[in-house]
Amino acid sequence: ATERTLSIIKPDATKRNLTGKINAKFEEAGLRIVAQKRIQLSKAQAGAFYAVHKERPFYDELCEFMASAPVVVQVLEGDNAIAKNREVMGATNPADADAGTIRAEFAESVGENSVHGSDAPDTAKEEISFFFSGLEIVG
Ligand code: CMP
Repeated sequence: ATERTLSIIKPDATKRNLTGKINAKFEEAGLRIVAQKRIQLSKAQAGAFYAVHKERPFYDELCEFMASAPVVVQVLEGDNAIAKNREVMGATNPADADAGTIRAEFAESVGENSVHGSDAPDTAKEEISFFFSGLEIVG
C-alpha cells in the first residue's frame, strides 16, 4: 500500500553537503519527496522529537547533535515507504549497515548516522505531524 514516512537528513550530512546525494538514494528506490524543508532545531525541539528516548544514556548527546547544525526534514511517499526507507538507510550503526545503503556510504558513527526514518505507521503519522501541516505535503 502507499505509505508516507518522516525522514530527517541529520547535521553530519547537511554539514558535508550530502543532501542531494541522499535524496538521490531515496528517489532511486522509488520514494517520492512530497514535502521537504531545511530547518535549525533547538535542543528543546530535538528533545521533544526524540522524547521516546528520554531515558537512554545517549539522549543528551543525541539532542545536542540534532541541534548542532541544520537538518532537512522531509516526507517520503511510496509503496511500502516505511520499510523501503529503512532498507535504503541501512542499520542504525554504520558498521552493521549493508553495502550501498545511506549509512554504509555516509554515516560517521552510530550517533552521527546521517539520517532518521520513522519505524512504524503510528510513529510515521506522529513524526510527520510534528514537522508538517497537511497543506505542506503535496503528493
Ligand atoms: P535514529 O533513527 O534517529 O533514532 C534515535 C537515534 O539515537 C539513532 O538514530 C542514533 O542516531 C542515536 N543512537 C542510537 N544509539 C546510540 C548510541 N549508542 N550512541 C549515540 N547515539 C545513538
